[in-house]
Amino acid sequence: MAAISTRRLRADTAGIEEAARLLRAGRLVALPTETVYGLGADAGNDRAVAAIFEAKGRPRFNPLIVHLHDQRAAEALAMFDDRARLLAERFWPGPLTMVLPRRPRAGLSHLVSAGLDTVALRVPSQPVARALLAAADCPVAAPSANRSGRVSPTTAAHVMADMDGRIDAVLDGGACGVGLESTVIDLSTGQIALLRPGGLALEDIESIIGPVRRADHGEDAGDADAPRAPGMLLRHYAPSIPLRLNVSDPRPGEALITFGRHSFGDLETANLSPDSDLCEAAANLFDLLHRLDNPAHAGIAVMPIPDTGLGLAINDRLRRAARGREPGSDPA
Ligand code: TXA
Ligand code: MG
Repeated sequence: MAAISTRRLRADTAGIEEAARLLRAGRLVALPTETVYGLGADAGNDRAVAAIFEAKGRPRFNPLIVHLHDQRAAEALAMFDDRARLLAERFWPGPLTMVLPRRPRAGLSHLVSAGLDTVALRVPSQPVARALLAAADCPVAAPSANRSGRVSPTTAAHVMADMDGRIDAVLDGGACGVGLESTVIDLSTGQIALLRPGGLALEDIESIIGPVRRADHGEDAGDADAPRAPGMLLRHYAPSIPLRLNVSDPRPGEALITFGRHSFGDLETANLSPDSDLCEAAANLFDLLHRLDNPAHAGIAVMPIPDTGLGLAINDRLRRAARGREPGSDPA
């Protein structure tokens, strides 16, 4: 990716307005929260969300947390049941993230959820974050603002050390009070589960809604950037029809996902990026998979995608999506 110059914005009215303008324009802005600094982008903009993964150098697409100004804005994006409402009323704004069923037509990027039908939502309490969310007036997707595999930043200087030249701006709101990521719980199934321990104690959550299922190991356990999210609780997107990768000879009846300029007769074809741009391909990936996931097709065939830059994450997700259908495979 081309280096850009990263501005350090003061958390005054002008700085917050400028950060909001950048977010609305699809740019990347690091913002302070009470937990850690987040790397923010407009959660409705696929290209902006793809740029988050590029800037972080993440080798795979993990679903991201969407930050909102208040519970009302959150309820416009996801379905809240009684338990979710109780927790929101008690702990928001604050370091609690809830995974909930997405509302289908809420205008959220599919990449934010890594193709899943759930979305992680949080209302931060840090005053600068709140002012920015109010000014931007859009949901803001934000993972921790560090390069993949490094520790989460708790000051603007940490962010600059890791992300200078890779993002448009960092809004300097001082040091983060909690200094530890938010607690993530999954409310999208009957049995509430802890996905990541964090800044809000599990006991506090259980005092409101009763026992929460814990799990301690998963495929993400060794990944420094997703340190404690148990992969076994994190479902992966998989289409309902077979998915074949690295295909150069599509079969009759298959739908084809191409990359770069190609033409294949009368097969239904969707192009990830005619210009072979991996960032554009990432932005389109989950949308295209959803669109072609139709039992009228014998399957989905995907042409080879280069294994560099965001291509690593694209291929990782495609392999998981292909594996997800195999009998006996990890249901996650
Ligand atoms: O404190 C925090 O949570 C910080 C600040 C910036 O808000 N953000 C943060 O984001 O730590 P990130 O992307 O580094 O971690 C998000 C966690 C990951 O473990 C991810 O797997 C989980 O949330 N997650 C997000 N969406 C999910 C979903 N739909 N289903 C299951 N897990 C999800
Ligand atoms: Mg992180």
